[in-house]
Amino acid sequence: MIERAASILREGGIVAFPTETVYGLGANALNAQAIQKIYEIKGRPSTSPLIVHVNSVNMAKELVTDWPEAAQRLVDAFWPGPLTLVLPKAEQVPGELTAGLGTVGIRMPAHQLALKLIEAAGVPIAAPSANRFMELSPTTAEHVWASLGDRVDLILDGGPTVVGIESTVLSLAGPKPVLLRPGMITQAQIEAVIGPIVTTVNITEAHASPGLHDRHYAPRTPLYLTTTVPREGRGIYLHHTVPLAGAHPRMMPSEAGRYAAVLYDVLHECDQEGWDWIAVEPPAEGVEWAGILDRLKRASVR
Ligand code: TXA
Ligand code: MG
Repeated sequence: MIERAASILREGGIVAFPTETVYGLGANALNAQAIQKIYEIKGRPSTSPLIVHVNSVNMAKELVTDWPEAAQRLVDAFWPGPLTLVLPKAEQVPGELTAGLGTVGIRMPAHQLALKLIEAAGVPIAAPSANRFMELSPTTAEHVWASLGDRVDLILDGGPTVVGIESTVLSLAGPKPVLLRPGMITQAQIEAVIGPIVTTVNITEAHASPGLHDRHYAPRTPLYLTTTVPREGRGIYLHHTVPLAGAHPRMMPSEAGRYAAVLYDVLHECDQEGWDWIAVEPPAEGVEWAGILDRLKRASVR
């Protein structure tokens, strides 16, 4: 299966594959035509850059013009894993992949199937989350099938993903490191390795990271971040402390890692169950919840 997937990628085709965060929609990162297919399949605006997946630090270095000391420290600490580094791009990286930017986002996924696929293909793999634009990211092969089904050449099934939300994105391309997207590798973990970083409290206002649209990662059912009944109709309440009178209860894990791991699957299920609304108890304060809170805010109606 890996060999077949690799040859599809080498020939310019599209393969959905698991990573530890969410499933990716993969193409040869060095093939501009293949990259354009990703944008078509997702219905994604070409102003939104893709992440490149590598299976070695050397492969990453070939994609950039600068490899700062901070990059080396971070990859020593967190790769393979859910941390994407944005760095100045090398000439060989097509502008289609970076949405015309002079920088490229790169990560080494902590998933054996993904690493073997990159190795077998022999090229870095560009992959956004394997869902249609504005939809929830997929955490199982079934989610990919439901969203993109026959539009991809192959779906590699690696079971449910373990991290459950998209990688932390950190830019090292400017004078100071900037957190562009929070994730399960926290600000505190990053700062323990490279010192203070800049965070954009409201990324959409700052327009720091193209492609981080205001409403994103959203279920079809209207979602509210609240501890009260948001409106009329039959609703479900995702709580991790106490349930809500007037809503069907659904208990969520109280630990951040376990919460993130199940969040998208629960939201996919809620969509299928046909509720009029989904209410979600706001998560606790604390850096380990920052990625989850970010996704819930983007998914919610305001
Ligand atoms: O966990 C993940 O990151 C997953 C798996 C498949 O690896 N991928 C993912 O890709 O979430 P995507 O395309 O849905 O989100 C990538 C985001 C973009 O929306 C953009 O905000 C940021 O990463 N990004 C990528 N390249 C960038 C660049 N050169 N400059 C700034 N932001 C960039
Ligand atoms: Mg996405």
